[in-house]
Amino acid sequence: MNCFANAAIAVALTTAIATPAFAQAKLKVGLMLPATGTFAQLGTAIDNGFRLYVAEQGGKIAGREVEFVRVDDESDPAKATDNVNKLIKRDNVDVLIGTVHSGVAMAMAKAAKESGTLLIVPNAGSDPITGPMCAPNIFRSSFSNWQPGYAMGEVMAKRGLKKVVTITWKYAAGDESVKAFKEAFEKNGGNVVKELSLPFPNVEFQALLTEIAASKPDAVYTFFAGAGAVKFVKDYAAAGLKKSIPLYGAGFLTDGTLEAQGADADGLMTTLHYADGLNTPRDNAFRLAYAKSYKLQPDVYAIQGYDAAQMLSIGLTATKGDPKNAAVFAEALRKAKIDSPRGSFTLSRSHNPVQDIYLRQVSSKENKVSGIAAKALADPGRGCRM
Ligand code: PHB
Repeated sequence: MNCFANAAIAVALTTAIATPAFAQAKLKVGLMLPATGTFAQLGTAIDNGFRLYVAEQGGKIAGREVEFVRVDDESDPAKATDNVNKLIKRDNVDVLIGTVHSGVAMAMAKAAKESGTLLIVPNAGSDPITGPMCAPNIFRSSFSNWQPGYAMGEVMAKRGLKKVVTITWKYAAGDESVKAFKEAFEKNGGNVVKELSLPFPNVEFQALLTEIAASKPDAVYTFFAGAGAVKFVKDYAAAGLKKSIPLYGAGFLTDGTLEAQGADADGLMTTLHYADGLNTPRDNAFRLAYAKSYKLQPDVYAIQGYDAAQMLSIGLTATKGDPKNAAVFAEALRKAKIDSPRGSFTLSRSHNPVQDIYLRQVSSKENKVSGIAAKALADPGRGCRM
């Protein structure tokens, strides 16, 4: 063997030693999202947003080519543990991204905590995920259910409304949203006189709308999303309530739903961490890129998917592509300012976005910003101990 061959072998060996095996392998991203049911469109928007960011990085995160494995979780908590275990144990994913439904996300957080797999939640607001369930390997790119609910409680109290009825689906997200709304509304002099609910994902609203009419409140606060939100807004107007009892909600009520709701959504006021017409260079660039890629306008779910990918990139860049180094991953994210189209945000100690909550009003099929309901609002992260 000549000395050139020896040198070549030496270089190859050094490179192999300096570059761990995982850095050469594809990064396996497990997307656990709804593809069917009332939240199907929300899952698609998150998926689109995530893939857009990856595409903008040339298909790589932290130098590793990305491979996707996707599971339809059907927004069904009864199937959640099996579904997440398929991704962790069968597919050996490096990171879990999911999901929309709070009950399903709780099962994902439990599995992530037990296995140590990185989890970034791109929607589900379940408060405990960044409360008692908090962990060094669990993050959220979206919101906690507390955030938009609390902000709307303050807004409605300040508008002089005194007597409010709430209506939602009876599950974690609905319960937590109403609880946060009530906390702020009653602290500021309002009174929740009735809390109505129906099981998720039912949409037989008629009897409950009759009860609202009979209660004659000053206003209604609601949490619904996806296809259920479309039907609720249409039924509320058809029942003749829209003119007499103003309807307010967490912004999911009118996000990604306005085409289907049409004029029945006009004038509705909601609170959320995103809005149409922010008109910042960052948001304009994102909206243009999204519209070009998908021939669709983005919504809050698309943003949350995009930002989940940005967060993954920040964390994995710090670990040099290693998904097992949760401590370094977390440290990088805790220090980061995430350059989101919604406006930049930081993460709280319990890994939930600290972000502005916009007050929005529907006009011409857009959720137009009408102010900031809460500046840099941080979820209290109650019970988080890491
Ligand atoms: C949730 O279950 O946490 C949830 C679902 C849909 C939304 C928002 C929150 O739009």
